[in-house]
Amino acid sequence: MQKYIKKCKTLDDTKVLASSFADLVKDDGIFVNLYGEIGAGKTAFVKLVAEALGVKEKVTSPSFVILNEYHSANLPVYHFDLYRLENEGVKTIVEELREYTRKCITFVEWAEFSQDEIPFEHLKINVTYGDDEERIYEFIPYGEKVEKIIGELNQ
Ligand SMILES: Nc1ncnc2c1ncn2[C@@H]1O[C@H](COP(=O)(O)OP(=O)(O)O)[C@@H](O)[C@H]1O
Ligand SMILES: [Mg+2]
Repeated sequence: MQKYIKKCKTLDDTKVLASSFADLVKDDGIFVNLYGEIGAGKTAFVKLVAEALGVKEKVTSPSFVILNEYHSANLPVYHFDLYRLENEGVKTIVEELREYTRKCITFVEWAEFSQDEIPFEHLKINVTYGDDEERIYEFIPYGEKVEKIIGELNQ
């Protein structure tokens, strides 16, 4: 399985990555699971992608198990934050999340310790710290459509 790994030395690099990503998903949508410690850069990435997609509203961090939604871009953008949701809780929410896979762009920030049990096509993004402002974004595809997007990012 092909991955895409991008080392972003500054927030501006992350912005460039977010713009390229937005271009690839703006018409068909995508479901994205984001993993990484607090402060790694999950919300920052969602915010930059939303801005690149043309979301006009201010993008803020959704608090515990709350959803933010934005309807000013081409497709609706949904942003969940499931931080601290325990593994039992994950099971209860998976089928509800499936509703957010059609004709939309969905981001889910997961608790670090949650297992990935999503049974439908999605992109997994792991965010880790480097030095200072450096962040490493690792994109792992689950499904053919998402593999194609990863292929394009790798070109
Ligand atoms: N290269 C970078 N990419 C993303 N965020 C960065 C980068 N450099 C510094 N930051 C800062 O790191 C913080 C990341 O916080 P946030 O996105 O809220 O983390 P998380 O949602 O993973 O808990 C923000 O304050 C952001 O401005
Ligand atoms: Mg966050």
